[in-house]
Amino acid sequence: MKQVMMRRLFAMGFALVMLAPIVSQAAEPQDIIKYRQNMMKAIGAHTAAAGAILMGKVDYKNQLNEHVRSLEALTSDIPGLFPKGSDFGDTRAKDAVWTKRADFEKHAKTLKARVAAFAKAVKSGNHATELASFKDMGEGCKACHKDFRKKEEK
Ligand code: HEC
Repeated sequence: MKQVMMRRLFAMGFALVMLAPIVSQAAEPQDIIKYRQNMMKAIGAHTAAAGAILMGKVDYKNQLNEHVRSLEALTSDIPGLFPKGSDFGDTRAKDAVWTKRADFEKHAKTLKARVAAFAKAVKSGNHATELASFKDMGEGCKACHKDFRKKEEK
């Protein structure tokens, strides 16, 4: 009796282990969409915070590096936030994200390079270079949004 139960438990555990990777692969498209929108919001928030410091609106220069490091991490794989099948749902991503993939990836790569340049400028501490590279980075966001993000409805 005891042995039968043990065997059953073992079999169940095995089945769960086998299922685990299947479950984690089958993320719902809407969950992926929400996740990437949250990532983009985080990117937007760090950009706005860094901007407020650079424009001298707030006195948190000592935190500039934190925003730069977060931006480097958050923008490290933007295309990975747009997997196939996550095009349908409550999203502002245009179909072009998937139909003009090479172009989309080029925008992501350009932005990464500009974030890196901004990081370098912040390390140098030269205010003019910081401002110029911050502006370049912002143009990198805009360029991708122009071609790949739908205008806000309402
Ligand atoms: C390679 C293309 C690309 C780049 C580069 C990019 N974005 Fe986005 N971004 C998108 C797309 C596409 C969406 C729409 C996502 C959705 O709705 O599923 C988006 C959405 C957003 C949103 C709205 C999130 C929400 O739903 O509330 C913000 C904010 C944002 N991006 C900020 C930025 C900032 C700031 C940068 C630059 C530092 C940037 N993005 C760079 C493609 C890009």
